[in-house]
Amino acid sequence: MNGRSSPHQSRFERVDDWLTRTTGLWRPRPFVQLPAPWEDDLPELSAGLRALELEEACFLEENPSVLARRVPAAAPLVERNRGLSDWPSLEGSPGLELPKHPPRFVPQRKWRQISAFVRVLQGQAPSGVETWVDWCAGKGHLGRTLASVSRARALGVEKRRRLCDSGRELAEREGVPMDFRCADVLTGSFDDVLGPSAAAVALHACGELHVALMRSVVARRARFVAVAPCCYQRIGGAYYEPLSRAAKESRLRLHRHDLRLACLQEVVAGQGERRLRKRAEAYRLSFELLTREAGDGPVESFGRLPRSFFRLPFSLFAARAAEQAGVRLPHGWDAEAVERAGWERLRVATSLGIVRGLFRRAIESWLLLDRALFLEEHGYRAHVGAFCEKSVTPRNLMLSATLI
Ligand SMILES: C[S@@+](CC[C@H](N)C(=O)[O-])C[C@H]1O[C@@H](n2cnc3c(N)ncnc32)[C@H](O)[C@@H]1O
Repeated sequence: MNGRSSPHQSRFERVDDWLTRTTGLWRPRPFVQLPAPWEDDLPELSAGLRALELEEACFLEENPSVLARRVPAAAPLVERNRGLSDWPSLEGSPGLELPKHPPRFVPQRKWRQISAFVRVLQGQAPSGVETWVDWCAGKGHLGRTLASVSRARALGVEKRRRLCDSGRELAEREGVPMDFRCADVLTGSFDDVLGPSAAAVALHACGELHVALMRSVVARRARFVAVAPCCYQRIGGAYYEPLSRAAKESRLRLHRHDLRLACLQEVVAGQGERRLRKRAEAYRLSFELLTREAGDGPVESFGRLPRSFFRLPFSLFAARAAEQAGVRLPHGWDAEAVERAGWERLRVATSLGIVRGLFRRAIESWLLLDRALFLEEHGYRAHVGAFCEKSVTPRNLMLSATLI
Protein backbone atom coordinates (compact mmCIF):
# COMPACT_ATOMS: atom_id res chain seq x y z
CA MET A 1 0.00 0.00 0.00
CA ASN A 2 1.17 3.50 -0.76
CA GLY A 3 1.61 5.55 2.42
CA ARG A 4 -0.45 8.39 0.90
CA SER A 5 -3.70 6.44 0.89
CA SER A 6 -3.43 4.36 4.04
CA PRO A 7 -5.37 4.79 7.28
CA HIS A 8 -2.01 5.43 8.92
CA GLN A 9 -1.62 8.50 6.73
CA SER A 10 -4.88 10.10 7.90
CA ARG A 11 -4.16 9.14 11.48
CA PHE A 12 -0.70 10.66 11.21
CA GLU A 13 -2.20 13.90 9.90
CA ARG A 14 -4.57 14.14 12.87
CA VAL A 15 -1.87 13.46 15.45
CA ASP A 16 0.52 15.79 13.68
CA ASP A 17 -2.02 18.61 13.58
CA TRP A 18 -2.80 18.19 17.28
CA LEU A 19 0.82 18.10 18.37
CA THR A 20 1.74 21.05 16.17
CA ARG A 21 -1.03 23.16 17.69
CA THR A 22 -0.19 22.25 21.26
CA THR A 23 3.61 22.47 21.42
CA GLY A 24 3.25 25.22 24.07
CA LEU A 25 1.67 22.65 26.39
CA TRP A 26 3.98 19.65 26.01
CA ARG A 27 7.36 21.10 25.10
CA PRO A 28 8.13 23.24 28.18
CA ARG A 29 9.53 21.15 31.01
CA PRO A 30 8.32 22.30 34.45
CA PHE A 31 11.30 20.62 36.06
CA VAL A 32 13.48 23.09 34.22
CA GLN A 33 11.13 26.03 33.83
CA LEU A 34 8.68 27.29 36.47
CA PRO A 35 6.07 28.71 36.19
CA ALA A 36 5.04 26.80 33.07
CA PRO A 37 4.50 29.21 30.14
CA TRP A 38 0.89 28.05 29.61
CA GLU A 39 -0.28 28.84 33.14
CA ASP A 40 -1.48 32.40 32.38
CA ASP A 41 -3.59 31.16 29.48
CA LEU A 42 -5.09 28.24 31.42
CA PRO A 43 -5.54 29.55 34.98
CA GLU A 44 -8.09 26.94 36.06
CA LEU A 45 -5.89 24.09 34.94
CA SER A 46 -2.90 25.69 36.61
CA ALA A 47 -4.73 26.24 39.93
CA GLY A 48 -6.24 22.74 39.93
CA LEU A 49 -2.85 21.12 39.41
CA ARG A 50 -0.93 23.38 41.78
CA ALA A 51 -3.33 22.35 44.56
CA LEU A 52 -2.31 18.67 44.34
CA GLU A 53 -0.15 16.91 46.91
CA LEU A 54 2.92 15.16 45.50
CA GLU A 55 1.59 11.67 46.05
CA GLU A 56 -1.69 12.47 44.40
CA ALA A 57 0.07 14.11 41.46
CA CYS A 58 2.21 10.98 40.99
CA PHE A 59 -0.91 8.84 40.95
CA LEU A 60 -2.79 11.12 38.55
CA GLU A 61 0.19 11.18 36.17
CA GLU A 62 -0.48 7.52 35.47
CA ASN A 63 -4.27 7.64 35.70
CA PRO A 64 -5.62 10.25 33.30
CA SER A 65 -9.26 9.20 33.64
CA VAL A 66 -9.14 9.91 37.40
CA LEU A 67 -7.33 13.16 36.61
CA ALA A 68 -10.23 14.31 34.43
CA ARG A 69 -12.56 13.97 37.44
CA ARG A 70 -10.18 15.41 40.03
CA VAL A 71 -9.10 18.40 37.90
CA PRO A 72 -12.00 18.97 35.48
CA ALA A 73 -10.07 21.64 33.55
CA ALA A 74 -7.78 18.82 32.35
CA ALA A 75 -10.65 16.75 30.93
CA PRO A 76 -10.59 18.12 27.34
CA LEU A 77 -6.85 17.41 27.06
CA VAL A 78 -7.28 13.93 28.49
CA GLU A 79 -10.04 13.15 26.01
CA ARG A 80 -8.33 14.53 22.95
CA ASN A 81 -5.07 12.74 23.66
CA ARG A 82 -6.80 9.47 24.42
CA GLY A 83 -8.77 9.64 21.19
CA LEU A 84 -5.60 10.10 19.18
CA SER A 85 -3.36 7.60 20.84
CA ASP A 86 -5.43 4.53 21.64
CA TRP A 87 -4.27 1.47 19.72
CA PRO A 88 -6.05 -1.87 19.38
CA SER A 89 -4.70 -4.97 21.08
CA LEU A 90 -3.07 -7.24 18.54
CA GLU A 91 -4.48 -10.74 18.26
CA GLY A 92 -2.17 -13.54 19.29
CA SER A 93 -2.02 -16.85 17.45
CA PRO A 94 -4.70 -18.99 19.18
CA GLY A 95 -3.01 -22.35 18.59
CA LEU A 96 0.33 -21.43 20.10
CA GLU A 97 1.08 -22.80 23.58
CA LEU A 98 4.03 -21.28 25.36
CA PRO A 99 5.00 -22.25 28.90
CA LYS A 100 3.74 -19.86 31.57
CA HIS A 101 7.00 -20.09 33.47
CA PRO A 102 10.10 -18.66 31.86
CA PRO A 103 12.84 -20.98 30.62
CA ARG A 104 16.00 -20.93 32.75
CA PHE A 105 17.93 -17.65 32.71
CA VAL A 106 15.02 -15.66 31.27
CA PRO A 107 13.66 -13.09 33.74
CA GLN A 108 9.91 -13.38 34.44
CA ARG A 109 8.99 -9.94 33.06
CA LYS A 110 11.08 -10.45 29.93
CA TRP A 111 9.38 -13.78 29.38
CA ARG A 112 5.92 -12.20 29.57
CA GLN A 113 6.99 -9.67 26.93
CA ILE A 114 8.55 -12.31 24.72
CA SER A 115 5.64 -14.73 24.89
CA ALA A 116 3.17 -11.96 24.02
CA PHE A 117 5.41 -10.77 21.18
CA VAL A 118 5.87 -14.28 19.80
CA ARG A 119 2.14 -15.07 19.99
CA VAL A 120 1.38 -12.02 17.85
CA LEU A 121 4.24 -12.76 15.45
CA GLN A 122 3.07 -16.31 14.88
CA GLY A 123 -0.29 -14.96 13.75
CA GLN A 124 1.26 -12.37 11.42
CA ALA A 125 4.47 -13.66 9.91
CA PRO A 126 4.08 -14.86 6.31
CA SER A 127 4.96 -18.38 5.23
CA GLY A 128 8.31 -19.07 3.65
CA VAL A 129 10.40 -17.40 6.34
CA GLU A 130 13.68 -19.26 6.74
CA THR A 131 15.49 -17.08 9.24
CA TRP A 132 14.36 -14.97 12.17
CA VAL A 133 16.85 -12.16 12.56
CA ASP A 134 16.76 -11.08 16.20
CA TRP A 135 18.12 -7.53 16.01
CA CYS A 136 20.02 -6.29 19.10
CA ALA A 137 19.27 -9.67 20.53
CA GLY A 138 20.91 -9.58 23.92
CA LYS A 139 21.16 -13.29 24.77
CA GLY A 140 18.66 -14.01 22.02
CA HIS A 141 15.70 -15.07 24.17
CA LEU A 142 13.27 -13.81 21.53
CA GLY A 143 15.01 -15.42 18.56
CA ARG A 144 15.47 -18.67 20.44
CA THR A 145 11.76 -18.81 21.31
CA LEU A 146 10.78 -18.07 17.70
CA ALA A 147 13.10 -20.75 16.34
CA SER A 148 11.75 -23.26 18.87
CA VAL A 149 8.11 -22.78 17.81
CA SER A 150 8.61 -22.49 14.04
CA ARG A 151 10.50 -24.24 11.29
CA ALA A 152 12.86 -21.33 10.75
CA ARG A 153 16.27 -20.94 12.36
CA ALA A 154 17.32 -17.79 14.17
CA LEU A 155 20.26 -15.43 13.95
CA GLY A 156 20.94 -13.01 16.78
CA VAL A 157 22.72 -9.79 15.92
CA GLU A 158 24.30 -8.32 19.02
CA LYS A 159 27.21 -6.00 19.78
CA ARG A 160 28.36 -7.44 23.08
CA ARG A 161 30.42 -10.57 22.70
CA ARG A 162 29.62 -11.82 26.17
CA LEU A 163 25.90 -11.82 25.34
CA CYS A 164 26.51 -13.57 22.01
CA ASP A 165 28.51 -16.30 23.77
CA SER A 166 25.83 -16.81 26.43
CA GLY A 167 23.15 -16.84 23.73
CA ARG A 168 24.99 -19.47 21.72
CA GLU A 169 25.39 -21.61 24.83
CA LEU A 170 21.68 -21.35 25.70
CA ALA A 171 20.62 -22.28 22.16
CA GLU A 172 22.96 -25.25 22.14
CA ARG A 173 21.76 -26.45 25.52
CA GLU A 174 18.13 -26.27 24.36
CA GLY A 175 18.89 -27.78 20.96
CA VAL A 176 17.49 -24.75 19.13
CA PRO A 177 18.99 -23.74 15.75
CA MET A 178 20.23 -20.26 16.59
CA ASP A 179 23.53 -18.61 15.83
CA PHE A 180 24.87 -15.14 16.60
CA ARG A 181 26.68 -12.45 14.73
CA CYS A 182 28.65 -10.23 17.02
CA ALA A 183 28.40 -6.86 15.30
CA ASP A 184 27.50 -3.21 15.68
CA VAL A 185 24.23 -2.68 13.81
CA LEU A 186 25.08 0.97 13.18
CA THR A 187 28.24 0.26 11.24
CA GLY A 188 28.03 -3.33 10.03
CA SER A 189 26.52 -4.62 6.81
CA PHE A 190 23.71 -7.14 7.05
CA ASP A 191 22.89 -7.53 3.37
CA ASP A 192 23.56 -11.25 3.53
CA VAL A 193 21.07 -11.93 6.32
CA LEU A 194 18.19 -9.57 5.54
CA GLY A 195 17.17 -11.01 2.19
CA PRO A 196 13.67 -12.00 1.01
CA SER A 197 13.47 -15.15 3.17
CA ALA A 198 14.24 -13.28 6.40
CA ALA A 199 11.88 -12.00 9.05
CA ALA A 200 13.53 -9.38 11.23
CA VAL A 201 12.39 -8.74 14.78
CA ALA A 202 13.52 -6.17 17.32
CA LEU A 203 12.14 -6.11 20.81
CA HIS A 204 13.09 -2.93 22.60
CA ALA A 205 15.99 -1.93 20.42
CA CYS A 206 16.60 1.77 21.13
CA GLY A 207 15.98 4.69 18.73
CA GLU A 208 18.62 4.59 16.05
CA LEU A 209 19.12 0.84 16.39
CA HIS A 210 15.65 -0.15 15.20
CA VAL A 211 15.68 2.64 12.61
CA ALA A 212 18.87 1.10 11.19
CA LEU A 213 16.98 -2.19 10.97
CA MET A 214 14.07 -0.68 9.08
CA ARG A 215 16.40 0.99 6.61
CA SER A 216 18.24 -2.29 5.98
CA VAL A 217 14.97 -4.20 5.69
CA VAL A 218 13.58 -1.96 2.94
CA ALA A 219 16.93 -1.89 1.15
CA ARG A 220 17.19 -5.68 1.11
CA ARG A 221 13.44 -6.38 0.67
CA ALA A 222 13.22 -8.61 3.72
CA ARG A 223 9.88 -10.39 3.81
CA PHE A 224 8.71 -9.25 7.21
CA VAL A 225 9.75 -6.96 10.03
CA ALA A 226 8.36 -6.37 13.52
CA VAL A 227 9.65 -3.85 16.01
CA ALA A 228 8.60 -2.79 19.49
CA PRO A 229 10.60 0.41 19.73
CA CYS A 230 11.91 1.99 22.91
CA CYS A 231 14.17 4.89 23.95
CA TYR A 232 13.28 7.01 20.92
CA GLN A 233 15.62 9.70 22.25
CA ARG A 234 18.72 7.60 21.57
CA ILE A 235 19.60 9.20 18.27
CA GLY A 236 22.81 10.51 16.78
CA GLY A 237 21.96 14.24 16.72
CA ALA A 238 19.95 16.67 18.83
CA TYR A 239 16.94 16.59 16.46
CA TYR A 240 14.86 13.72 15.17
CA GLU A 241 15.26 12.89 11.49
CA PRO A 242 11.86 11.92 10.09
CA LEU A 243 11.67 8.81 7.93
CA SER A 244 8.44 9.13 5.96
CA ARG A 245 7.44 11.78 3.45
CA ALA A 246 4.55 12.90 5.66
CA ALA A 247 6.78 13.43 8.69
CA LYS A 248 9.40 15.19 6.57
CA GLU A 249 6.71 17.62 5.41
CA SER A 250 5.46 18.25 8.96
CA ARG A 251 6.19 21.54 10.71
CA LEU A 252 6.93 19.60 13.86
CA ARG A 253 10.64 19.41 14.63
CA LEU A 254 11.25 17.10 17.51
CA HIS A 255 14.19 17.66 19.80
CA ARG A 256 15.73 14.81 21.76
CA HIS A 257 13.97 16.17 24.88
CA ASP A 258 10.63 15.76 23.10
CA LEU A 259 11.47 12.19 22.17
CA ARG A 260 12.33 11.47 25.76
CA LEU A 261 8.80 12.40 26.72
CA ALA A 262 7.49 9.51 24.62
CA CYS A 263 9.32 7.06 26.87
CA LEU A 264 8.76 8.56 30.31
CA GLN A 265 6.58 6.09 32.07
CA GLU A 266 7.18 4.13 35.21
CA VAL A 267 4.53 1.46 35.20
CA VAL A 268 7.08 -1.25 35.75
CA ALA A 269 8.89 0.38 38.69
CA GLY A 270 8.04 -0.98 42.15
CA GLN A 271 6.97 1.20 45.07
CA GLY A 272 10.41 1.24 46.72
CA GLU A 273 12.12 2.16 43.48
CA ARG A 274 9.60 4.92 42.80
CA ARG A 275 10.14 6.39 46.26
CA LEU A 276 13.89 6.43 45.77
CA ARG A 277 13.52 8.10 42.38
CA LYS A 278 11.30 10.83 43.83
CA ARG A 279 13.79 11.41 46.58
CA ALA A 280 16.58 11.62 44.02
CA GLU A 281 14.59 14.22 42.07
CA ALA A 282 13.87 16.23 45.23
CA TYR A 283 17.55 16.11 46.23
CA ARG A 284 18.64 17.27 42.79
CA LEU A 285 16.21 20.17 42.85
CA SER A 286 17.22 21.09 46.41
CA PHE A 287 20.87 20.96 45.45
CA GLU A 288 20.23 23.18 42.47
CA LEU A 289 18.51 25.74 44.72
CA LEU A 290 21.37 25.55 47.18
CA THR A 291 24.10 26.10 44.61
CA ARG A 292 22.06 28.90 43.05
CA GLU A 293 22.17 30.59 46.47
CA ALA A 294 25.93 30.09 46.67
CA GLY A 295 26.31 32.46 43.75
CA ASP A 296 28.62 30.28 41.62
CA GLY A 297 25.72 29.55 39.28
CA PRO A 298 23.33 26.66 39.90
CA VAL A 299 24.55 23.12 39.42
CA GLU A 300 21.75 21.55 37.43
CA SER A 301 23.53 18.40 36.58
CA PHE A 302 26.29 16.53 38.33
CA GLY A 303 26.31 13.48 36.15
CA ARG A 304 25.62 10.09 37.60
CA LEU A 305 25.75 9.79 41.35
CA PRO A 306 25.79 6.46 43.17
CA ARG A 307 22.30 5.41 44.23
CA SER A 308 23.52 5.12 47.80
CA PHE A 309 23.96 8.94 47.88
CA PHE A 310 20.19 9.36 47.71
CA ARG A 311 19.69 7.27 50.82
CA LEU A 312 21.73 9.73 52.89
CA PRO A 313 20.19 12.62 54.84
CA PHE A 314 20.11 15.67 52.59
CA SER A 315 22.91 17.50 54.41
CA LEU A 316 25.32 14.61 53.81
CA PHE A 317 24.09 14.13 50.26
CA ALA A 318 24.75 17.81 49.50
CA ALA A 319 28.28 17.60 50.91
CA ARG A 320 29.10 14.57 48.76
CA ALA A 321 27.45 15.99 45.65
CA ALA A 322 29.31 19.30 46.11
CA GLU A 323 32.59 17.43 46.36
CA GLN A 324 31.79 15.54 43.18
CA ALA A 325 30.72 18.67 41.29
CA GLY A 326 33.71 20.63 42.60
CA VAL A 327 31.61 23.45 44.09
CA ARG A 328 31.53 25.12 47.51
CA LEU A 329 28.35 25.27 49.55
CA PRO A 330 27.24 28.54 51.15
CA HIS A 331 28.37 29.15 54.70
CA GLY A 332 25.91 28.08 57.44
CA TRP A 333 23.20 26.85 55.07
CA ASP A 334 19.97 25.46 56.49
CA ALA A 335 19.65 21.86 55.27
CA GLU A 336 16.06 21.48 56.42
CA ALA A 337 14.85 24.62 54.69
CA VAL A 338 16.65 23.83 51.43
CA GLU A 339 15.38 20.28 51.38
CA ARG A 340 11.83 21.49 52.06
CA ALA A 341 12.10 23.96 49.17
CA GLY A 342 13.33 21.18 46.88
CA TRP A 343 10.39 18.94 47.75
CA GLU A 344 8.00 21.83 47.17
CA ARG A 345 9.52 22.46 43.77
CA LEU A 346 9.19 18.77 43.00
CA ARG A 347 5.51 18.84 44.01
CA VAL A 348 4.72 21.79 41.74
CA ALA A 349 6.84 20.54 38.82
CA THR A 350 5.28 17.07 39.04
CA SER A 351 1.76 18.51 39.22
CA LEU A 352 2.23 20.84 36.24
CA GLY A 353 4.20 18.14 34.41
CA ILE A 354 1.02 16.06 34.29
CA VAL A 355 0.01 18.20 31.33
CA ARG A 356 3.11 17.17 29.37
CA GLY A 357 2.53 13.58 30.32
CA LEU A 358 -0.89 13.60 28.69
CA PHE A 359 0.86 13.95 25.34
CA ARG A 360 3.29 11.06 25.85
CA ARG A 361 1.34 8.51 23.91
CA ALA A 362 0.46 10.99 21.14
CA ILE A 363 4.17 11.65 20.57
CA GLU A 364 4.91 7.96 20.64
CA SER A 365 2.09 7.44 18.13
CA TRP A 366 3.48 10.16 15.86
CA LEU A 367 6.88 8.41 15.88
CA LEU A 368 5.40 4.99 15.29
CA LEU A 369 3.22 6.24 12.46
CA ASP A 370 6.27 7.84 10.87
CA ARG A 371 7.84 4.38 10.87
CA ALA A 372 4.67 2.69 9.58
CA LEU A 373 4.37 5.19 6.71
CA PHE A 374 8.04 4.78 5.85
CA LEU A 375 7.53 1.03 5.46
CA GLU A 376 4.34 1.54 3.45
CA GLU A 377 6.13 3.95 1.12
CA HIS A 378 8.57 1.14 0.44
CA GLY A 379 5.98 -1.43 -0.52
CA TYR A 380 5.08 -3.02 2.83
CA ARG A 381 1.70 -3.50 4.48
CA ALA A 382 2.00 -2.20 8.03
CA HIS A 383 0.10 -2.96 11.26
CA VAL A 384 0.31 -1.11 14.55
CA GLY A 385 -1.13 -2.19 17.88
CA ALA A 386 -0.44 -3.24 21.45
CA PHE A 387 1.18 -6.67 21.80
CA CYS A 388 0.70 -6.80 25.60
CA GLU A 389 -0.72 -4.86 28.53
CA LYS A 390 1.09 -1.71 29.65
CA SER A 391 1.70 -3.35 33.02
CA VAL A 392 4.00 -5.87 31.31
CA THR A 393 5.95 -3.10 29.61
CA PRO A 394 5.03 0.53 28.98
CA ARG A 395 6.65 0.14 25.55
CA ASN A 396 3.92 -2.22 24.47
CA LEU A 397 3.31 -0.99 20.92
CA MET A 398 4.40 -3.11 18.00
CA LEU A 399 4.81 -2.18 14.38
CA SER A 400 4.92 -5.05 11.94
CA ALA A 401 5.08 -5.00 8.17
CA THR A 402 4.95 -7.55 5.40
CA LEU A 403 6.38 -7.06 1.94
CA ILE A 404 3.48 -6.97 -0.52
C1 LIG B 1 17.35 -3.19 25.61
S1 LIG B 1 18.37 -4.49 25.09
C2 LIG B 1 17.19 -5.54 24.29
C3 LIG B 1 17.65 -6.94 24.19
C4 LIG B 1 16.60 -7.92 23.67
N1 LIG B 1 16.11 -7.55 22.38
C5 LIG B 1 15.49 -8.08 24.67
O1 LIG B 1 14.39 -7.59 24.46
O2 LIG B 1 15.74 -8.70 25.69
C6 LIG B 1 19.28 -3.80 23.74
C7 LIG B 1 20.39 -4.67 23.23
O3 LIG B 1 20.99 -3.99 22.13
C8 LIG B 1 22.39 -4.21 22.17
N2 LIG B 1 23.02 -3.13 21.39
C9 LIG B 1 23.16 -1.84 21.76
N3 LIG B 1 23.77 -1.14 20.79
C10 LIG B 1 24.01 -2.02 19.79
C11 LIG B 1 24.61 -1.88 18.50
N4 LIG B 1 25.07 -0.69 18.07
N5 LIG B 1 24.70 -2.97 17.73
C12 LIG B 1 24.24 -4.17 18.15
N6 LIG B 1 23.66 -4.35 19.35
C13 LIG B 1 23.55 -3.29 20.16
C14 LIG B 1 22.71 -4.18 23.63
O4 LIG B 1 23.95 -4.80 23.90
C15 LIG B 1 21.51 -4.92 24.22
O5 LIG B 1 21.74 -6.29 24.30
